[in-house]
Amino acid sequence: MTAFRTLDDLDVAGKRVLVRVDFNVPMENGVVTDATRIERALPTLQDLLKRGTKVILLSHYGRPKGKADPALSLRPLLQPLENLLKGRKVAFAEDCIGAPAEEAVAQLNDGEVLLLENLRFHEGEEANEDAFADSLAKLGDLYVNDAFSTAHRAHASVEALARRLPAAAGRLMQEELEHLEKALENPERPVAAIVGGAKVSTKLELLGNLVEKVQLLVIGGGMANTFLHAFGVPVGASLCEKDMAETVEDIVRRAKQADCDILLPTDAVVAEKLAPNTPHDVVAVRDVPDDRMILDVGPMTSEQIRKRLGDCRTLVWNGPLGAFETQPFDAGTNVVAEAVADLTAEGRLLSVAGGGDTVSALARAGVLDRLSYVSAAGGAFLEWMEGKTLPGVQALRDSAG
Ligand code: 3PG
Ligand code: MG
Repeated sequence: MTAFRTLDDLDVAGKRVLVRVDFNVPMENGVVTDATRIERALPTLQDLLKRGTKVILLSHYGRPKGKADPALSLRPLLQPLENLLKGRKVAFAEDCIGAPAEEAVAQLNDGEVLLLENLRFHEGEEANEDAFADSLAKLGDLYVNDAFSTAHRAHASVEALARRLPAAAGRLMQEELEHLEKALENPERPVAAIVGGAKVSTKLELLGNLVEKVQLLVIGGGMANTFLHAFGVPVGASLCEKDMAETVEDIVRRAKQADCDILLPTDAVVAEKLAPNTPHDVVAVRDVPDDRMILDVGPMTSEQIRKRLGDCRTLVWNGPLGAFETQPFDAGTNVVAEAVADLTAEGRLLSVAGGGDTVSALARAGVLDRLSYVSAAGGAFLEWMEGKTLPGVQALRDSAG
């Protein structure tokens, strides 16, 4: 992996530093409901402020499609941001480029923070437009990208801007890249992957990349039904993509060639419908009744997964094993999460997980801080698992020469 610069390589004192963060946080009626993404930017912000930097924060919010939309303003983030910065005042500019931004930057002193309005209020952001990137670049002396979760977007603040100013990865970006490298690019073997979630069709490229890189591929969630069906196992009324049979066969063939073992559920928790605490049974996957649907892996399967992970050194996890949001169909995910946390604590497994649903499932299982690393990213984590080069990461590497 080509190296990238970090905050340690920049002389930031007294400089105007443009920091690309991902403040695309959940909000309801103008109130931030989960500040995790702001919290995860703090190490970078604190590091820069301690060193007497003028910090200028750039972020997108939602998908305004190139037009200003008051409902997607970043202004509601000011208060939570100030609270997390222990009462430090944060200035705000009504626009991320032009006079409002330039005036706000001119008023900024060393050790102060300015938040610019939503980048996506300008079409040039998503279009990765040179003129827009130039307008952003004018505002700063240095560029820091701390938004791994947006690194899969070739947008101006992520890509073009990194090519216009001396650039470095922020602490969160650095942490993400270092852990991801240990997990898939340069891992200790054997490597396992757990892939769950509803559909094979959304994770085709991911599965194709993983069979080449891991020695054990555990498939759970709705997509396991598609695999079972492709193997001629009837899955009753379960969620299943019947038209994906050929694709599954192709993945299985590639796995065999690459010596990757695919582990599918052998038993399942079935019910007539998906509802909290609805009557349910555990059956062997060969015995799923016509009118029942598979909603979780069974206890035999989670035990098999636990055992097989015990022989692995590295794990990458994306996707829950069952319908984890509805009890008791979170049981399989919880049991395996607990086993992963234990193996990690014993120093036997390096465990890395990511993806929106996965993080919620692991939080519910109570293991978030017991894995080696949980990524803050959703889509970017998936594209990384697909083996893709993320434009934001590539730009940082290129700028390091
Ligand atoms: C995310 O929330 O996944 C990132 O902020 C990227 O947002 P986007 O999917 O709208 O580009
Ligand atoms: Mg998204």
